[in-house]
Amino acid sequence: MDISHIEHLGIAVKSIEEQLPYYEGVLGLKCYNIEVVEDQKVKTAFFKVGQTKIELLEPTSPDSTIAKFIEKKGEGIHHIAFSVADGVANALAEMESKGVQLIDKAPRGGAEGLNIAFLHPKSTGSVLTELCEHPNK
Ligand code: CO
Repeated sequence: MDISHIEHLGIAVKSIEEQLPYYEGVLGLKCYNIEVVEDQKVKTAFFKVGQTKIELLEPTSPDSTIAKFIEKKGEGIHHIAFSVADGVANALAEMESKGVQLIDKAPRGGAEGLNIAFLHPKSTGSVLTELCEHPNK
């Protein structure tokens, strides 16, 4: 697996709208995209910080994994996403061969048209870890 950089940090929030004054007004970042990812039952908002992004995740349904996360742990950092230069499918095969427990056995579509897959926090020091690639790169 060839990790090129941290693609984004995912942060669970109850309300994107309520957080915008902090990210835009206080930090001076610009939200450049808000997108609903239906199959994950989340609304996402993106801010660029150099090559890395911050991804705010707001649940769109009480049975969203983000809603459950906030219920258990409160708002805060939810996952780290690594960009893998040699592809998510390759990375998953390698992680599985190294005994890492996978949440996604195969890449799937995420926000911003990325191919993504999650590794289980049981195998990653309790940090939910996402691998992603830009499909046309
Ligand atoms: Co993510």
